[in-house]
Amino acid sequence: MKRTTIVTACLALFTAPVWAGPDGDNLVINDEIEMVTETAAPAHMENVDTIYSGWRFRTDETQALQLDDFDNPAMLTVDAALDYFDTVDGSEGKSCSSCHDSVEDFAGFTASMPKVMDGKLVTTEDFLNEHRATAMGAEPWKWSGNDMQGMVALLGMQSRGMPVNVAIDGEAAPFWEKGKEIYYTRYGQLELSCANCHEDNYGNMIRADHLSQGQINGFPTYRLKQAKLISRHNRFRGCIRDTRAETFAEGSDEFRALELYVASRGNGLSVETPAVRQ
Ligand code: HEC
Ligand code: HEC
Repeated sequence: MKRTTIVTACLALFTAPVWAGPDGDNLVINDEIEMVTETAAPAHMENVDTIYSGWRFRTDETQALQLDDFDNPAMLTVDAALDYFDTVDGSEGKSCSSCHDSVEDFAGFTASMPKVMDGKLVTTEDFLNEHRATAMGAEPWKWSGNDMQGMVALLGMQSRGMPVNVAIDGEAAPFWEKGKEIYYTRYGQLELSCANCHEDNYGNMIRADHLSQGQINGFPTYRLKQAKLISRHNRFRGCIRDTRAETFAEGSDEFRALELYVASRGNGLSVETPAVRQ
């Protein structure tokens, strides 16, 4: 296929905006925790003035599932993680609660993840596996397994309503640059970058989907289609695969860097974990 044909095929992917602007609804969870779902874009974003949570692009039915924790299907997995918090695991005979009084002590932790620790870019998944090994002598969890994502969600919930605030300067800068480069690289037969869909076309339809800005402030999110909590890296993989490209692995350095970059595009939105999506 000649290049012009490919480009035409791509343009035909996106159809006219049914979305004339923000729907104006506010996300208040449990009638109590107010979420910032729209705010000024951070200064480091060159092409976007306003950032929106993915919640703003979903149907009323999907949005409703996030309004009350009793209706949020992610909570089953989160409850299992809460049980695990008190469960002894590993060679040291310890549970999380042997050393930590309450999960509430982790308020704020997720808002600044991923971050550089000892020169390495560390996601919550990395932190948990490393911490489980050293503090408990416990086996690593699989990146996108329910154990792992349930705990990532439980920790994330403790920061609900707090603004995402990942550091991108100092030691984080080279990782952030790498993530940015990946974000703007065109992948696959469709030759589409993250930016082509989530920056140039948010608000438009792509096939049957209403495109959002691809924010990760609600992750891990419960996807109704997959009927489970899904990780940030699992979502990145799915999106790259949709361009018919080979993709990076969950837990790869590429996806760590991309996670930092994408998280930074949401600096200022509320941590919404665990969100519900289609
Ligand atoms: C043997 C004691 C011990 C056990 C068991 C333990 N932790 Fe920790 N944890 C610590 C200590 C000490 C720190 C602070 C120093 C550090 O970051 O390593 C910490 C730090 C943390 C932090 C980072 C907090 C922050 O704001 O930086 C998180 C999150 C955490 N633990 C979660 C867990 C979870 C979840 C479990 C169970 C899977 C667990 N811990 C098991 C001792 C423990
Ligand atoms: C071909 C278009 C396309 C490309 C390219 C693409 N995505 Fe997506 N992405 C989608 C669609 C469609 C959805 C589901 C609707 C939505 O939430 O925007 C989605 C959803 C997401 C979500 C979930 C948002 C939420 O609120 O739950 C994230 C995160 C995401 N994409 C990140 C990325 C990243 C990072 C890249 C580049 C590696 C990328 N996407 C490339 C089409 C694309």
